[in-house]
Amino acid sequence: MQEMQIRTVSDPPALACAAADIIAELVRAKPAAVLGLPTGNTPIALYAELARRVEARELDVSRIVAFAIDEFAGVPRSEAGTNSRFYRAHVRLPLRALHVPNPDAHEPEAHIGAFADALRRAGGFDLCVLGIGRNGHIAFNEPGSGRTSRARVVALTESSRAAHASAFGGIERVPARGLTLGIAELMDSRAILLLATGAEKASIVREAIEGTVSADVPASWLQEHDNCTWLLDEAAASGLRGGAD
Ligand code: GLP
Repeated sequence: MQEMQIRTVSDPPALACAAADIIAELVRAKPAAVLGLPTGNTPIALYAELARRVEARELDVSRIVAFAIDEFAGVPRSEAGTNSRFYRAHVRLPLRALHVPNPDAHEPEAHIGAFADALRRAGGFDLCVLGIGRNGHIAFNEPGSGRTSRARVVALTESSRAAHASAFGGIERVPARGLTLGIAELMDSRAILLLATGAEKASIVREAIEGTVSADVPASWLQEHDNCTWLLDEAAASGLRGGAD
């Protein structure tokens, strides 16, 4: 098993460029790559940088097929705060396809299972980009998510709901449940790129990279992946004891 790679850059704009470089390199080698794309504040500057490169004709994303990695459950797609709205607002890229689960599916468990099947039929992720929640969640795999957990409906923690309160217009409006790819589907990705910025992520980043591998910190499962890069800004890397370049 290969060691995880830890790369530290100065600040969020540098992180957006470095992440875009990694994606551009993959797309040059494999123009029809299958990508997993996260929501959250962290990747917004990356999506803007990719759009800039497409506009400048430095990058061709027209054959890329992308999949969301999670969504809320029990709300219409159009509701402010859903991941569907996020992708429409921030991922302004002429991709071949961007598949997002339906947050309003009648049978959410069957729906997210079918979504994971569609990902498998597409060949699985060549690269899955991830963010990390302050409690160590990846996608909506909250603490307690095991290594073999699969795509499913999950109960969201208070901390995750609080992080989305402003987008939904108050914590009481944030759905109690989410749809997520499981740890198993994320770990099946041929490469993983985890992005984290800001001092508020420093302690969970340290636990995930240097702590014990356990379901208590779902991002710690990435220690068992053989092609995983953590791309951090200096603030997010500030709790690491060593090894960052
Ligand atoms: C959300 C998403 C995750 C994301 C995380 C971090 O809850 N479900 O996929 O990685 O929060 O978000 P941020 O980048 O805003 O800190």
